[in-house]
Amino acid sequence: MECGAGLASVDRSRAIELAGKTVLVTGATRGIGLETARELSALGAHVVLGVRDIVRGAEIANEFERAGGRANVLAIDLSSLGSVEEAASRFLASYPALDVLVNNAGTLATKRTLTAEGYELTWATNFLGLFALTNALLPALCAASEPRVVNVSSAAHNAGKMVWDDLERANRYTGFGAYAQSKLALNLYTREFAVRHPDIAMNAVHPGAIATDIWRGLPGFVRTILGRMLPSPSNGALPVIRLASSDDVRGVSGRYFDRLRETAPSKAAQHTDDARRLWEYAAKICAVAGEAAA
Ligand SMILES: NC(=O)c1ccc[n+]([C@@H]2O[C@H](COP(=O)([O-])OP(=O)(O)OC[C@H]3O[C@@H](n4cnc5c(N)ncnc54)[C@H](OP(=O)(O)O)[C@@H]3O)[C@@H](O)[C@H]2O)c1
Repeated sequence: MECGAGLASVDRSRAIELAGKTVLVTGATRGIGLETARELSALGAHVVLGVRDIVRGAEIANEFERAGGRANVLAIDLSSLGSVEEAASRFLASYPALDVLVNNAGTLATKRTLTAEGYELTWATNFLGLFALTNALLPALCAASEPRVVNVSSAAHNAGKMVWDDLERANRYTGFGAYAQSKLALNLYTREFAVRHPDIAMNAVHPGAIATDIWRGLPGFVRTILGRMLPSPSNGALPVIRLASSDDVRGVSGRYFDRLRETAPSKAAQHTDDARRLWEYAAKICAVAGEAAA
């Protein structure tokens, strides 16, 4: 595991004009999502905080407003397709356009857990919910002049394997295996989305190994060491903010970035047939209308 990514600060001189633009950041209560939302607010965006803890969300929105920004809370639980559908309808009813969607919320369930809807938790949160949300928000993304979607992936995707006959890992579950597969799926999705929606820039990014609560399943002493060794959440947010707001990636889509550097994802993540197969599988589960899924 690497430490000290050496990323200094956001290059605000390269930021596109965000005043008057609406940005939705999921998982904005803490970690990388919170720091991403904070900086996009400071850059002038109207930030919508996609969170399941609305009390914490309101505290953060107030903090941003006290600093001169504009922020609102959108209640959403990414692990529930019902919650995602409701949240997307509320978003569409409240905002005419979505300029930037940051799909950041993520989890790593160390023990196999089923959601109330019967899906495996990591798969539901990191992939199915994200797919459903992005798809439901297409009308708002299409209404923006230069829409962007940033998917917070992970270098863990390199170890991922699509277990097609057991995507929810009912037979052999490991937390890391499920997480790695969900991030591989996210990279395959990013690739396929770029082909199907050339007017919306979507990219995936590994933010670096960062000291956040994503490591909460590890033993306490390991977490303490990691907390000291790894860069801070604001460091992890830098590449996400860059893809969300910098003009140096204008027009770039379907790519994978390891922090600030564009790089090829794993071979498995470049598999065209798997990307299409995954799309068809998710579209069926998320009951995507033919038009939207095209
Ligand atoms: N940290 C790293 O080293 C690292 C490396 C590679 C990739 N990533 C990715 O970076 C992203 C952000 O993670 P982080 O490191 O900042 O971890 P974190 O501190 O644990 O933050 C995760 C965020 O996701 C939210 N979230 C989790 N499940 C959710 C759900 N079902 N519905 C809505 N929100 C949910 C959490 O909200 P609550 O406060 O409600 O729990 C929290 O705001 C994740 O996608 C993660 O996989 C992290």
